[in-house]
Amino acid sequence: MSEQPDRAIWGSKLGFLLAAIGSAIGLGNIWRFSYMAYENGGGAFLVPYFFALIIAGLPLIILEYTIGHREKGASPLAFARIDKKWEWVGWWMPTVASVGILLFYSIVIAWCLNYFLFSFKLSWGTETGAFFEKTFLNSSGDPFDLGGCNLKILAASAVVWIITWAICFKEINHGIEKACMIFMPILLVLTTVLVCWALTLDGAMMGIKHYLTPDWDKINIIKHFNNSEVWNVWLNAFGQIFFTLSLGFGIMIAYASYLPRKTDIVRNGLITAFANCAYSFFAGFAVFGTLGFMALQKGVPIDKVVADGVGLAFIVYPEAINQLPVGSKIFGAAFFLTLFIAGLSSAVSLVEAFVCAITDKFACKRSTTISVFCICGFVTSSIFTTRAGLSILDIVDHFINQYGLVTGGLLECIFVGWVLKAHVARNHVNSLGATRLSKLWDICIKYITPVILTIILIQAIRGDINNPYGDGAYPARALFIYGGGIILLTLIIAVYLSVQSWHRAKHFHKPEEEQLLT
Ligand code: PHE
Repeated sequence: MSEQPDRAIWGSKLGFLLAAIGSAIGLGNIWRFSYMAYENGGGAFLVPYFFALIIAGLPLIILEYTIGHREKGASPLAFARIDKKWEWVGWWMPTVASVGILLFYSIVIAWCLNYFLFSFKLSWGTETGAFFEKTFLNSSGDPFDLGGCNLKILAASAVVWIITWAICFKEINHGIEKACMIFMPILLVLTTVLVCWALTLDGAMMGIKHYLTPDWDKINIIKHFNNSEVWNVWLNAFGQIFFTLSLGFGIMIAYASYLPRKTDIVRNGLITAFANCAYSFFAGFAVFGTLGFMALQKGVPIDKVVADGVGLAFIVYPEAINQLPVGSKIFGAAFFLTLFIAGLSSAVSLVEAFVCAITDKFACKRSTTISVFCICGFVTSSIFTTRAGLSILDIVDHFINQYGLVTGGLLECIFVGWVLKAHVARNHVNSLGATRLSKLWDICIKYITPVILTIILIQAIRGDINNPYGDGAYPARALFIYGGGIILLTLIIAVYLSVQSWHRAKHFHKPEEEQLLT
């Protein structure tokens, strides 16, 4: 593969690693991992979690790095170079990332910014649940109630989009790389402060005990072969690994396309994956230490204080912050600043995956593409600031996480394992003269990972059919429009972009590489 002289490359190995780890470490590491671990057998969850990391997470992150590096392009260009018929998949993945995730992810980061400011006055008061849903979000619970745009959230969202724009505007080695070199150390320091602080609270050890005590029965599939709950624990572990490593969206493909020729792909994959998972495990101590403290204050067992997802960060945590004897405002500010920074470094990667795809295929100017993308992103994400925002976010999040990312990963495995052929990709990695990839990787990519992903997908479909999402809170129409509709919309955009890019290639009568230089 010839080098493209005009394509930026990362300034340093560390810069690339911090950006990739920055994408992986996000809002999900702080609340989602802890909650998953708690729900699925405490310490015992680490067994399926690390199993999923080794069986699916590592092979896939290496796969994404390999195609990005080998084809020197974001997913559409990389896929098209291998087989033109698959280009639409290359478009679909970053489209899902942008339309399906980034739009609401940017709003959750905006909430964090609002809550960061609220911390200085503990503005959420004592009824943190009512404050979050009614006073702050003004949520009506009706997914079609699209009125009442919330100006506080809109303003914070504008700040998030402006920062994201400013970081992505420059070439990758000047923008994202520099930002992550600053963000990641700050994130580590803030998290360490939070963990140490949480561990000193009364009752913290009770929380930690809950976090780490293994309930082996919950993961023992041999003993409970016919019990679907035990199987679900294993499936949840795989889902969590995908989400946390930002796999299946073409992000890591785009990032790896900026790597210099001499690179140790296997080592980079190992470092990214382990750094991310170690961070989750570490941050879990802050979450559970605080929950233990709260359980003691309220005199309830710890399983009564835990709410899932959004609730944990924006309802339970503020409540815990209220009860701190000293420094509650600073603790609150530190917590929401941590979430804000973790979210931003993931948001920039979501932007990069799509923008890099466009600039690669249509030879548009990076700065213009970023500006147009961020303006459109800001405007469309404002739908989540309306009274229906929370409900739409909940539905979109469910469908994209359940189907989008697993399907993306599955298609990648089939594509690389069977169309490109796994050994061709492996030979590329091994030709770089760095850490070697064994044949076991081929087996994972061709058989093990796709089979597991297919099972997860079937389970998810069965679950949604038997018990439609939301337990009756949403009308079926809402699930079709916001759930099915968003997936359909991303497919239409992906096919449209593929057709445009074929036309362009035909019109110019030039091979891909040449087009890039025009
Ligand atoms: N990995 C991020 C997290 O843990 C979330 C994310 C998913 C970011 C997909 C980008 C793409 O929060």
